[in-house]
Amino acid sequence: MFNTERFIADCCGALNNDNAHAAVKEIVARAVAEPSQLLKALEEPKLAGIQTLYRSDRLTILNVLWGPCMHLYPHDHRMWAVIGIYGGREDNAFYRRSDSGLIELGAKTLDTKDVIPLGEAVIHSVTNPLEQITAAIHVYGGDFFATPRSEWDPQTLEERPYDIAHAMQVFEESNERLRAAELAVKRLDRSF
Ligand SMILES: [Fe+2]
Repeated sequence: MFNTERFIADCCGALNNDNAHAAVKEIVARAVAEPSQLLKALEEPKLAGIQTLYRSDRLTILNVLWGPCMHLYPHDHRMWAVIGIYGGREDNAFYRRSDSGLIELGAKTLDTKDVIPLGEAVIHSVTNPLEQITAAIHVYGGDFFATPRSEWDPQTLEERPYDIAHAMQVFEESNERLRAAELAVKRLDRSF
């Protein structure tokens, strides 16, 4: 049975481990191994968004809900991370800096129950390829919101300071599309 407070306490405790990153990966893997328990504890997602479950200088735990077909431009974290999927699918594309700009290195699809550890230097973009919300637990080895880092323009791939408000706008635009689609379905229902 997943318990949010227990999960947070376990992740905090893992920071005392010699390899906190690997220890947190095991904790997240155990949690997403039973996705229905997470869905029950964190409530079935209805909208895209980021819910902060825990935040300190050394650790951030987020419940990340990607909207249908939503895409978040390349960005880095500058701290280790663990991503675990408990509903849907995340397509990750990985990049590296080069003299001629950002170069795509490869991609990885994460399905429900998959867990991936990301190193401090990772640059990635995320796409939800599904017509439904994808739900994921993201754990970061630092203060996700207070650490300066970079994002890259999705068209020009130009590097600029990461702006959390910009990221939140992408989530909100996804919700606007969701609401418009629901409205269209309701109108269609009424016309029959
Ligand atoms: Fe990320």
